Amino acid sequence: MEYLKNDSVKLSDDEMSVIIIDQTILPNDLVFKKLSVREDFFEAIKNLRVRGAPAIGICAGYAMYVLSLSINAVNGEEFLKEILNIGEYLCSSRPTAADLSAAVKKCIAAAKENISSPIEKIREILKCTAINIHKENIEMCRKISEYGLSLVKNGDGILTHCNAGPLAASRYGTGLGTLFLGKERGYEFHVYVDETRPLLQGSRLTAYELDNAGIDVHLICDNMASSVMKAGLINAVFVGCDRVAANGDTANKIGTSGAAIIAKHYGVPFYVFCPSTTIDLSCKSGKDIPIEFRDGEEIRSMFFSRPVAPEVKCYDPAFDVTEENLITAIITEKGICRRPYEKSLGELFGK
Ligand code: MRU
Repeated sequence: MEYLKNDSVKLSDDEMSVIIIDQTILPNDLVFKKLSVREDFFEAIKNLRVRGAPAIGICAGYAMYVLSLSINAVNGEEFLKEILNIGEYLCSSRPTAADLSAAVKKCIAAAKENISSPIEKIREILKCTAINIHKENIEMCRKISEYGLSLVKNGDGILTHCNAGPLAASRYGTGLGTLFLGKERGYEFHVYVDETRPLLQGSRLTAYELDNAGIDVHLICDNMASSVMKAGLINAVFVGCDRVAANGDTANKIGTSGAAIIAKHYGVPFYVFCPSTTIDLSCKSGKDIPIEFRDGEEIRSMFFSRPVAPEVKCYDPAFDVTEENLITAIITEKGICRRPYEKSLGELFGK
């Protein structure tokens, strides 16, 4: 299927830049954008041209390599100093998604380990590290999707929030992977996609991806979640995540916690799909997760031809934390974790 072929992030053929699908232009046009210098990467991540925790991580991995090509250093020490600067700069673009800093840390660790090698060799190692981050994500998404399929049955109604599909990761995606894999195996799902205000990742991206794959989609406004669950149309809620704390508290796109509360009210299972790159055991609970706040203009006018609100102050957190007691299971590439999450996540991902 076409959606499995177009990586949302990839290294260019000449390996001097990174090519992304510009997600701000979807669903109207599929446009690729080339990122070559630091500011390109920062801008693309900050403005959600590349978005979704795993895709941001993959992009950051390639960025570390591409930007290392223009480092002018006489020895490994000098090179490492610059690599650290680049990593810090990239990490400052968006604070919540754990995958961004995880990818940067992986690249820095690889560079440090090889500090006494010739600089050309360190660059080569950075390239391999970035390619591995990408490959591992493809593998993780596939395994997560297999586990996800064991939780649902043919004909189920699924509610999604935000976008955790191929655009947000690689190939299958995380939260939507089960739906794509199921489609390949003859399952017919009925998916209710909420718009995900203010940036409309649900309507612009999830509806686009599912519809392209021939999966039955209904678009709903965010405030219709209770109505579809009450009507008995939903058998499970599927979401991705940006950072999962050791106790299972999960940061994901703003509005996720509301969907989880409603799901609990109606007895609908609420599933979080989570590659290990998104787990941050150094955060004990959701209180330790940094939440990004964004420009209120996104609420007032973005994606509308004219503003839809007067010039009032806006409160615009990009993420919220869903408390672990609202989450039925966290589906990872190593297995399905259930409460208590300290134990189940710790067993699979603790040192
Ligand atoms: O602000 P975004 O669009 O980057 O937020 C993305 C989400 O909240 C996704 O659900 C999450 O990153 C998981 S993507 C597999």
